[in-house]
Amino acid sequence: MKSFFHVSDIGDLSAALQEAAEVKRTPFAWKALGENKTIMLVFFNSSLRTRLSSQKAALNLGMSPIVLNIGQDSWKLETEMGVVMDGDKSEHLREAIPVMAGYCDIIGVRSFAGLTDRAYDYAETVLRQFIEYGGKPVISLESATVHPCQAFADLITIEEYRRGPRPKVVLTWAPHPRSLPQAVPNSFAEWMNAADVELVITHPEGYELDPAFVGNARVEYDQMKAFEGADFIYAKNWSCPGVTDPSQYGRVLSQDRSWTVGTRQMAVTNDAFFMHCLPVRRNMIVTDEVIDAPTSLVIPEAANRTVAAQVVMKRMLEDLQP
Ligand code: CP
Repeated sequence: MKSFFHVSDIGDLSAALQEAAEVKRTPFAWKALGENKTIMLVFFNSSLRTRLSSQKAALNLGMSPIVLNIGQDSWKLETEMGVVMDGDKSEHLREAIPVMAGYCDIIGVRSFAGLTDRAYDYAETVLRQFIEYGGKPVISLESATVHPCQAFADLITIEEYRRGPRPKVVLTWAPHPRSLPQAVPNSFAEWMNAADVELVITHPEGYELDPAFVGNARVEYDQMKAFEGADFIYAKNWSCPGVTDPSQYGRVLSQDRSWTVGTRQMAVTNDAFFMHCLPVRRNMIVTDEVIDAPTSLVIPEAANRTVAAQVVMKRMLEDLQP
C-alpha cells in the first residue's frame, strides 16, 4: 500500500475486517515487521486519538514513531508554491517534506482543511505534496477532505456490534458553535457506501456533502424520518461543503439545536447504537443521556483506532519487505 487515503486503498473490505479482527486478537504477532523501521507522524493540527493510536499501533508492530508538531516543535512551514516568504513562515514544505522523509520509512500527516478555498482543500494540496516530494508511503491522519483511519475504525466497530446483516446506518449532522471540516462525514459516507450497510444521510438543507462521497446513500432532510428503524446513529457536525455555491464553503449555516441527538430521536430507532469520532461537545452534538447510555459506542470506537492504524501500517510494512 503506497498511500492510505480512500477506501479503495484498503482493497477488499471483508479481508480488511478479518485482518482487523486478527490484529485485535494478537496485536504483538507482527512485532518483527517493524524492526529498524521508523514512522514520522506529522501534525499541523491538534489531536488526541489519532496521535496516541498511531503511536500505539506503530509500537505494537515494533516500529519507532517520531511525532512532529509543525510550528511548535519545528519551524512554521509555508505550504503554498510561488509565494514570497516574507512572513512568519521560515521553511517551505518543498524542502521540509524530503528532509522529513529522509528520516523515516512511512509518513503520517494531519493537515486540516483551511475552509476558505474549496478548490484548494478538495485538491488535497498539502497531502499531495507529501506523496509527490516524500517518496515514502503516506497515511492521511485526517487531511482536508478525508479521515480514513477514523472511517476504518468506525467500520470495524459496526462490524463488531451489528445485530444482523445489512444494518441501517444513519449519518446525522448535529450543531456546533464553530466551523468544522467535512473530512469525517466524507470518509464515513465513502466507507459505508463500500460496506454492506444501508446508509442514510440527514442534515439541514445547504449541508449537502460532495456527491463523490454521498454515492448511492439516501439523503433525508427530516432527521426523525431518517432515524426510524436505524441500527447505528453516527453524529457529526460539518460546515457547508459549498457543493452548489462555493462562496458558502466552510460557513456555519445553522446552529439548530433541535438537531442535537437526544432521547426523542433515539426513541424511533431500532434501539440504535450511538457513535461519534470524538472529541464531542456534549449537549450540542449529543445529550448526556445518549452518550452515557450503554448503547453508546464512543469509547470502543476510539479503541478501534489503534486496530485500524495497525492494519494500515502492517500492510505498508509488508510492502516494504525485501
Ligand atoms: N477522532 C479523532 O481523529 O480524534 P483526534 O482529533 O483527537 O485525533
